Amino acid sequence: MALEITYAEVKFKDTLLPVEAKAPPEKSTPQREPCKPKLWVPWLVSALLLLLCVALIITLIEQFWTCCPMGWKPFRANCYYLSSDSMSWDESEKNCTGMGSHLVVINTQAEQDFLLSWTKTIFSSRRSYFIGLSAQEVEAQWCWVDQTPYNKTATFWKPGEPSSPKTEQCTSFQMGHHAHIRVIFLSQWPCNCKLKVMLHKQSPKAHKLPETFPEWRCALGTPGSKEWVWTCCPMGWKPFRVNCYYLSSDSMSGDESEKNCTGMGSHLVVINTQAEQDFLLNWTKDIFSSRRTYFIGLSAQEVEAQWRWVDQTPYNKTAAFWKPGEPRIPKMEKYTSFQVHSRTQARQNWNDIPCSTSLNRICEAAAAFI
Ligand SMILES: *[C@@H]1O[C@H](CO)[C@@H](O)[C@H](O)[C@H]1NC(C)=O
Ligand SMILES: *[C@@H]1O[C@H](CO)[C@@H](O)[C@H](O)[C@H]1NC(C)=O
Ligand SMILES: *[C@@H]1O[C@H](CO)[C@@H](O)[C@H](O)[C@H]1NC(C)=O
Ligand SMILES: *[C@@H]1O[C@H](CO)[C@@H](O)[C@H](O)[C@H]1NC(C)=O
Ligand SMILES: *[C@@H]1O[C@H](CO)[C@@H](O)[C@H](O)[C@H]1NC(C)=O
Repeated sequence: MALEITYAEVKFKDTLLPVEAKAPPEKSTPQREPCKPKLWVPWLVSALLLLLCVALIITLIEQFWTCCPMGWKPFRANCYYLSSDSMSWDESEKNCTGMGSHLVVINTQAEQDFLLSWTKTIFSSRRSYFIGLSAQEVEAQWCWVDQTPYNKTATFWKPGEPSSPKTEQCTSFQMGHHAHIRVIFLSQWPCNCKLKVMLHKQSPKAHKLPETFPEWRCALGTPGSKEWVWTCCPMGWKPFRVNCYYLSSDSMSGDESEKNCTGMGSHLVVINTQAEQDFLLNWTKDIFSSRRTYFIGLSAQEVEAQWRWVDQTPYNKTAAFWKPGEPRIPKMEKYTSFQVHSRTQARQNWNDIPCSTSLNRICEAAAAFI
């Protein structure tokens, strides 16, 4: 699928788990001590416990991550992007909007400083960037693209700027040519002029990815959605539609295979559609040149003789892809295998096998969307 436009790799910076509070060993004091009780001891213990709680809370909060698309730079809760091409202000804003962002809105000295030091390190020559501040001739009022109220004390105009707008005016962010200058950076340009670079800013978003995996890989886009959404799969898993898939390189019995998937927050794959079957066929065919057989999440008990998916999806005979002549009536506990043969691949490739057979496995987990 050509939906994967960009990738971002997300790591939990600190997978440190909260340190468990070790209860101090209880001292058995069979005899009453004659001296006065030390009053500060319970206070000290309470204070330490309080500190521990605070540390725990901070650890939990820290596990929220700001995800920035690949090539964007994070600062506080936002992501920033420097374009390398130039367009008019209108085109720039349209381009940002198309990427789920807007031209940068600078609210604080800290943000201004961050942008200054970043842009200074990126290009050696002078560059000007459009930012999200503009004024209409008729209204003569400066407006930020995200409707943040214009606060004169939190702007960084060059001396003499801005002059009252004579035509429609937009604002650019200019790199100073004196290394020590760090205040004067806004100036006006006619909106239809072309500037070398522009600045984007993504709206603030803090995301929490499940902690079942330490690393995630996010691809921009999701089928059927025009929104700015990232589909995230654990590192090494492959996304398809709303799920992530894992191919094992080792083999085990059917029960162990399901246990291994469950242990990773997933289950043996449940194949519901022809598209999913085709995706798995294409992928498994490409990966190994020889024959491989995988467990999938369909099994039957001898006594019930009824096929069941591990996730309780009702078994649908018309959406099953058995090899011709399969399955036979289960004589013992049976699992289903997905047989891959790179050269003679049939679209119908399921076979039933005893669950004690040792095979590779395909696990499936829901993707995370951020
Ligand atoms: C925005 O501009 C970049 C760089 O020119 C381009 O790759 C991207 O496709 C544009 N996006 C939109 C939505 O116009
Ligand atoms: C305007 O900016 C100044 C300086 O950052 C800040 O102290 C003040 O609270 C802001 N005023 C408003 C109304 O946001
Ligand atoms: C599942 O199997 C993989 C590959 O053998 C192994 O790395 C992983 O630790 C196993 N996970 C569990 C929960 O058993
Ligand atoms: C599988 O591969 C075939 C042939 O290369 C292609 O036409 C089809 O779209 C692929 N299907 C999926 C679901 O990737
Ligand atoms: C069974 O699968 C077929 C083919 O994909 C589909 O048309 C049908 O709606 C499914 N039936 C149920 C009950 O899910």
